[in-house]
Amino acid sequence: MASKLPDVGTTIFTVMSRRARELDALNLGQGFPDYDIDPRLGELVAAAMQAGHNQYAPMEGLPLLRERIAAKLNAGYGLAVDPEAEVTVTLGATEAIYSAIQAVVGAGDEAIAFDPAYDSYEPAVRLAGGRCVRVPLAQPGFRYDWERVRGALTSRTRLILFNSPHNPACTAASAADLDALAELLAGSDTVVLSDEVYEHVVFDGLRHHSVLTHRQLAPRSFAVFSFGKTLHATGLRVGYCVAPAQLTRELRKVHQFNTFSISHPLQHAIAAYLAERPECGRDLAAFFQAKRDRLRAALEGSGFSLPAAQGTYFQLLDFSAFSAGDDRAFAERLLNEARVATIPLSPFYAAPPRLPFVRLCVAKRDSTLDEAAARLNAFAARAGRS
Ligand SMILES: Cc1ncc(COP(=O)(O)O)c(C=O)c1O
Repeated sequence: MASKLPDVGTTIFTVMSRRARELDALNLGQGFPDYDIDPRLGELVAAAMQAGHNQYAPMEGLPLLRERIAAKLNAGYGLAVDPEAEVTVTLGATEAIYSAIQAVVGAGDEAIAFDPAYDSYEPAVRLAGGRCVRVPLAQPGFRYDWERVRGALTSRTRLILFNSPHNPACTAASAADLDALAELLAGSDTVVLSDEVYEHVVFDGLRHHSVLTHRQLAPRSFAVFSFGKTLHATGLRVGYCVAPAQLTRELRKVHQFNTFSISHPLQHAIAAYLAERPECGRDLAAFFQAKRDRLRAALEGSGFSLPAAQGTYFQLLDFSAFSAGDDRAFAERLLNEARVATIPLSPFYAAPPRLPFVRLCVAKRDSTLDEAAARLNAFAARAGRS
């Protein structure tokens, strides 16, 4: 049988997590916390099941949860979102991304993604019959090159896949970036899919700029969020998509035949949790910034340099003092010689440049971060600088 995605293998996250288990290495690769969730969330899940919320949930999402999401957007961004017409609960952000892409991209359409791009974007575009046009972020610092984006726009550009805070570049888009995007799209009917799963995780006093707050972008945008990230529980697999009514209608046409509806007890539990802890996202920036800073301080003087992440729960490790080789080979070396699993950036590129970075996940216990730093320091001392 001819494969529809012949070049797609197992994701780098799964590969590195499997290798970490085989080698009993510390896993700073895949983005998931290794600490406990708030026990209250667990209690609320159990209570929701005991209360009998165990049959199909409404297709669009539990009304109560959608109301709480609208209240969260109001508290966080001052937005007045209609939970009935503009909020859809999805199976994590992954399903929101997939369903939104299927809803708007058709055969022969193009979608622009910025490299390094989160790995689910391009396969979803291709399965919709479209072509993903990859525009690299500029070095140094993974900056948007808006002239290059202008050059990539054609009459077939149906969708722009935007992501801020950005995984894996660990950058946060500025208000000027959103203005530049809006200006480029003015007069076209190109839609924006804005992946904002790390909305709460921006550091050093920076602010998250959501497309939902942008006057020109909001009417043409899907914005995608993840309770897995916000509640430190990536296994929940509950996310949501906020979009104007017309885009939401199209999204739901796909969603209803993709997942139909999302775990009913989990939606009740999350709705109750948001009512009890409406501020739960607000502490995330300080929480993860402390972890980022702990890891950076512990590796000071190692020879690795760690350009301060602006956001996400990742931190890049620059290994250029140790190797001029490629990032996959260096990640493999760290796995074997330091017993630390990381994620190279090249799998996130269509045409990978030679960049000296691997990505570390800082959403780990302090003790895990300390042990990882000790192993990386010992590796650095043994390896010597090149
Ligand atoms: C940028 C980005 N988008 C989407 C996702 C997927 O989110 P979810 O786990 O809610 O499906 C992730 C998960 O790591 C991510 O980093």
